[in-house]
Amino acid sequence: MKPRSEEVEKAKRNAALEAVKHVENGFVIGLGSGSTVAYVAEEIGKRIKAERLQVKAVPTSYQSLTLAVRNGIPTTSLEENPTLDLTIDGADQIDENLNLIKGMGGALTREKIVAAASKTLIIVADWRKKVKILGENGQPVPVEVLPFALSLVINKINMLGGKPVLRECSGKVGPVVTDNGNFIIDVDFGPIKNPAELEKTLKTIPGIVETGLFVGMADVVYLGRPNKVEKLKRKK
Ligand code: 5RP
Repeated sequence: MKPRSEEVEKAKRNAALEAVKHVENGFVIGLGSGSTVAYVAEEIGKRIKAERLQVKAVPTSYQSLTLAVRNGIPTTSLEENPTLDLTIDGADQIDENLNLIKGMGGALTREKIVAAASKTLIIVADWRKKVKILGENGQPVPVEVLPFALSLVINKINMLGGKPVLRECSGKVGPVVTDNGNFIIDVDFGPIKNPAELEKTLKTIPGIVETGLFVGMADVVYLGRPNKVEKLKRKK
């Protein structure tokens, strides 16, 4: 049975509430992108008002910049703060080792850069995102591609056995153009037995800017349900 949308939204907010407890006074944080992170921004905004919490955020997309501004979260940059105390972000799939597929919102490149600059990466998601193997249920891996390299990258990915589809806009004709001016291809690899190896292989293809495989990056995942939150920690 399909879960009701109010249940999913409650689960997302519950996950966000737990993650925001990690934010301390004086922290500089990375603010991820997506609908679950929208609750994170809202909750941080509330804490800024209620506790006079001093916090600054590096946004990972135009969406997250807007979320920060709307919720009264001061923004900063990686130039000013090359090391971040923590990042809170969403995910599209999470496996048992806390490897992730990200990027259905198209912000994967900046999200990965900001995550790599962070001492801790916390993921917030609803329970439907947890899987046994990344890529199951037809979940594609989003890949950001330099437009000049599109046909080369598509050929190479076909040779690897992936099924790439250029992501199309809704609300505008033509392909999605990322915040970095690139295209996104969504690649169905089927279930991915070795995400680290696939990530390595993809990174050798000229023109691939970044992939949505986040391997060994997440430290903690808060998996929300309508009435509780499960905390998952990466084994070191
Ligand atoms: C955007 C992302 C998002 O974090 C991911 O798609 C999850 O989004 P949502 O919380 O809306 O399900 O990676 O690039």
